[in-house]
Amino acid sequence: MSYNLLKGKKGIIFGALDENSIAWKVAERAHEEGAQIVLTNAPIAMRMGGIKDLAAKTGSEIIPADATSMEDLENLVEKSMEILGGKIDFVLHSIGMSVNVRKGRHYTDSKYDFTTKGWDVSAVSFHKTMNVLYNKQAMNEWGSIVALTYMAAQRVFPDYNDMADNKAYLESVARSFGYFFGRDHKVRVNTISQSPTPTTAGQGVKGFDGFIAYAEKMSPLGNATALECADYTISLFSDLTKKVTLQNLFHDGGFSNMGVSDAVMEKFTEE
Ligand code: NAI
Repeated sequence: MSYNLLKGKKGIIFGALDENSIAWKVAERAHEEGAQIVLTNAPIAMRMGGIKDLAAKTGSEIIPADATSMEDLENLVEKSMEILGGKIDFVLHSIGMSVNVRKGRHYTDSKYDFTTKGWDVSAVSFHKTMNVLYNKQAMNEWGSIVALTYMAAQRVFPDYNDMADNKAYLESVARSFGYFFGRDHKVRVNTISQSPTPTTAGQGVKGFDGFIAYAEKMSPLGNATALECADYTISLFSDLTKKVTLQNLFHDGGFSNMGVSDAVMEKFTEE
C-alpha cells in the first residue's frame, strides 16, 4: 500500500544487488511512495546483479561507485544532484562485506589485510559517504540518512566474525557524524538493526540457517523480512520521524530484548 510518504523527495540508495537485497525493497518502496531515486553499487556488482531491472522498474538512473573511493563518492553525489535536480532528502547505506568471512578465516585467526578491507567497505564507507554529503552541502534540511546494521555489534554471535566489529564502528559513526549533521544541517542519522534476512550478504554468514531459525523462535513477532525493513526505512525517510536521530533502532520482532522464549525452552525440555 502506498501513502505518498516520500512525495517530492529525492534520494540515493546504495547496495541493491538482486531482488533479495534489503536495498532493492527500499528502492521499490521509495518509488511507490513517490520518491525520485538514484541507485548505486560497486562497479563489479553491476555485472553480477540485476540492478538494471530495478532501475527500469523504478524509473531511476544508476551511478556506479565503490563506496570506499572518495573520488567515486564525490562523482556520485554531484551527478545525483544533477539528475535529481537539486539537493538530496534521503540516503540509504546498505553495504556489508567481510573478506575474512569470504575466505573462511576464523575470528581468532584474522588476516589483517582482510580485516582492514572489510572495515573500509562495511563501516568507513559510511563515514566517507557522509563526509562527501556534508562537505558538498548536498543534503536538504530535515533530510534523513540510514545505515543497516546487526545486533552482533552489542552481543556475541560467534560466526558473525569481524562483521560484529565493523557494525559496532558503523553504529558509532552514525552517532558521531549525526551530531554534526544535526547541528549544522538539521539532517538526522540513524542505524536500523535488522533481523537475520536471507540475502547474499546474510547467507554468507556460517550457520545462517540455524541462526535465522533460532531468531525466529526467540522473537515474539518472528523475524522481520526485507520488505518489512524497507517499510520501516521509509518511515525514517518520511517527515513523520523528523526528531529521531543518533539512534540504533532495532527492527527484529522483539529479539533484542528477549532472554528466552517458550518455543526455545521446548527444545531443551524435550524428553
Ligand atoms: P546484499 O548482499 O544484497 O547487499 C550488500 C551490498 O553491499 C551488495 O549490493 C554489494 O554489492 C554492496 N557492496 C559490497 N562492497 C561494496 C563496495 N565496495 N561499494 C559499494 N557497495 C558495495 O545483502 P543485504 O543483506 O541486503 O545487506 C545490506 C545491509 O544489511 C548490509 O549492511 C548488511 O550487513 C545489513 N544487514 C543484513 C542482515 C542479513 O541477515 N541479511 C541483517 C542485518 C543487517
